[in-house]
Amino acid sequence: MQYGYFDDKNKEYVITRPDTPTPWMNYLGQGGYGGIISNTAGGVSFDRDPQQRRVLRYRYNNLPMDRPGRYIYIRDMASGEYWSPSWQPVLRDLTHYECRHGMGYTRIKGVYGDIAAETLYFVPLKKSYEIWRFRVRNDSATKRELKIFTYVEFCYPSVRSDVMGDWPRMKTWGECSDNIALIDYISSFRQSHPVWQEPCLYFSADTPVEGYDLSLEDFIGPYRSESNPIALENGRCTDSSIYSDNAAGCLCLPVTLAPGEEKTINFILGASDDKEAIPGIVKSAFAIGAIDRDFAELNRHWEEYLSSYQITTPDEDVNRILNIWNQYQCKTTFDWSRYISLYERGFDRGYGFRDSMQDPLGVMYRIPGEAKERIKLLLAIQKNRGDTLSVYYPFHKTAEGGGRSDDHLWSVFSVCCYIKETCDTDFLDEMVPYHDVGEGTVLEHIEKAVRFTLDHTGPHGIPLMLQNDWNDSLSPIADMGGPVESVFVFFQLGHAVKELIGLYAYMNLDEKRKWAEGVYADLRTRLDAVWDDEWFIRAFNKYGEKFGTHEDEYNQIYLNPQSWAVLSGLPERGRMVKAFDAVRRHLRTDWGLVLNSPAPNEFDFEKKYYTPFPAGARENGGIFYHSNPWAIMAETILGRNEYAYDYYQAMLPTRRNVHADLTKVEPYVYCQNMLGPQHPRFGAAYNSWLSGTAAWSFFTATQYILGIRPDYDGLLIDPCLPEEWDEVRIERTFRGVLIKVTIQNVHKGAKGTGILYIDGVPVEGNRIRTEVLEGKHSIDAAFII
Ligand code: GLC
Repeated sequence: MQYGYFDDKNKEYVITRPDTPTPWMNYLGQGGYGGIISNTAGGVSFDRDPQQRRVLRYRYNNLPMDRPGRYIYIRDMASGEYWSPSWQPVLRDLTHYECRHGMGYTRIKGVYGDIAAETLYFVPLKKSYEIWRFRVRNDSATKRELKIFTYVEFCYPSVRSDVMGDWPRMKTWGECSDNIALIDYISSFRQSHPVWQEPCLYFSADTPVEGYDLSLEDFIGPYRSESNPIALENGRCTDSSIYSDNAAGCLCLPVTLAPGEEKTINFILGASDDKEAIPGIVKSAFAIGAIDRDFAELNRHWEEYLSSYQITTPDEDVNRILNIWNQYQCKTTFDWSRYISLYERGFDRGYGFRDSMQDPLGVMYRIPGEAKERIKLLLAIQKNRGDTLSVYYPFHKTAEGGGRSDDHLWSVFSVCCYIKETCDTDFLDEMVPYHDVGEGTVLEHIEKAVRFTLDHTGPHGIPLMLQNDWNDSLSPIADMGGPVESVFVFFQLGHAVKELIGLYAYMNLDEKRKWAEGVYADLRTRLDAVWDDEWFIRAFNKYGEKFGTHEDEYNQIYLNPQSWAVLSGLPERGRMVKAFDAVRRHLRTDWGLVLNSPAPNEFDFEKKYYTPFPAGARENGGIFYHSNPWAIMAETILGRNEYAYDYYQAMLPTRRNVHADLTKVEPYVYCQNMLGPQHPRFGAAYNSWLSGTAAWSFFTATQYILGIRPDYDGLLIDPCLPEEWDEVRIERTFRGVLIKVTIQNVHKGAKGTGILYIDGVPVEGNRIRTEVLEGKHSIDAAFII
């Protein structure tokens, strides 16, 4: 079953039937006020922080699923019939339904009989509220008396309290006056803890309301649900205020429509710390022309955002993913880290040092300044000795966790990539505090990260896994105690040291370079210990036993050590190729590479079954997409173009469009994982949207398959194209210059071969050097392979 299609011209995904296998979400807002919205208007919103400043309630794992949401009901007053143009929550069959998820907005149309309605939901740029622009049209030949009802279910701002306690509603207070429903809290915190205070929540319409219910129970009625509220049965609200109970924003507005007539009603939903300011905010949001202007501005914003990276390949799925959806997902992931989605509940995840240090890789080409600020913010939770706390909560400016082996190392690559992109070497000298004591330059921070790992190795000279490494679910192996060593981190360290060598060479820091080269050479001497005849092992457990070896029945091979071995450049080519032949033999599926194989269906320390999931799920034999691009990068480095492209194709979200009943999740964005072949439900995917998969797949596709890669002294042209592609065009801005590259795959030569022409003139090598950019607005380059 196909549930929708791509409208590339409008940069939208169009859902044509409402009953998608899972709610297919979009995001509203960009890091400030925002939330998620499904194709049937389900979802949640919050103001900056989904933990402490929740606005809408959302019931995870609810039945019926995907409730509640930003609902509108229409009631025909003559017949008493009512429905929702977004299908949910009334679920009445619609004559026509369409949901368009676009860049920062969602538009849901629903026709019932001859009443057509459409709601556009968006968050204006930099505003702390959302707009619902609702339009309703009478396509019949007779005059129609309708009533419009809204459904907003407010959440107590501290979501944990909302879920866990009954008392929050006792503090809740709400009245409707001057057309504004306003929810407030009797807060003892407000004076003493300004940062923890509950914001006032509000909902209003730009058309006079006939009635309202701020009491959720009064609107729904006992033993009813959002599908059949008593207010809809009765055709009116009760004008209930709310004193110590569950709060709703249910407004009722009468609409009379002549034949062919259309009316627009705008709604605003928001949060503010300043109760007195709310009427003014509402007034200016509803000022004449404001909503159209705000929406046009949002569209312009995205138009501009996407325009700085555009490609044309012979594969239209690749084009739409790279030109539109992957860029959009990278920015969304950058903005919201792992805050909240259909899978992340917004209870406990701020910016993870590890995750949010990887996300900037997906936006650096476009907003390097913001990427740099994010890196700095995270470096400030690093400890003076080099390791780091794990999570930072930007709203409250607090951090927690720590003790992992990989977290701190991610910063080395991000800092180096930022400098390669921008040439802003001053960044290295910027001072950033350490979380515990003192401060240091950015360069010192990343050097300390490397030194920390060098100083924390086990009996084989391999870095200790500490609490865990990238693979959260391998934590139990570390819980066993003893010197567990992580081969993944060993190669991550090798990669970081290689990056430092490149950086030192560019900065002419010769002494440091020599030191790093010495370290790198020394790491090379440890390779035999981690080689397992045909691939690299994953770890040594506390007994010093190999983990991830062909000698065991299960968990013989893990993907990440193979990928990072190649990325580190430490092993000789023969071993890298052998390891990747093994990856292909053992880990490849039509939907991507599984993380490890074969996966045991048990958890048993002594048998070396350390991952607490059934075989095929997540980090236990699942297809963990976050790590697929690393393998693709590795294949491009090995020059095995077809394998790289094969794996890239396998993970493309667009491929899922015609398999949605199997794969479940949205076909326009990457997801974090899919159940692997050992699982009875192989093919079902989970955790779409907020995943490191977004940044890494964009990074890999643009910098390693298309091969347009920023380097310190210019832009490298190093494509790794599939044979069937004859020509590719790329337009991107690099250090303020528009670079247009045409790659002609004429002779289908090996990777690294080709002649580069810059503005028609052949040049040595394959890079557009920094000097060439000077004084130019644009450059035309051609690379003939
Ligand atoms: C999730 C986490 C990430 C971790 C990965 C593998 O994506 O957000 O931090 O590295 O799982 O366990």
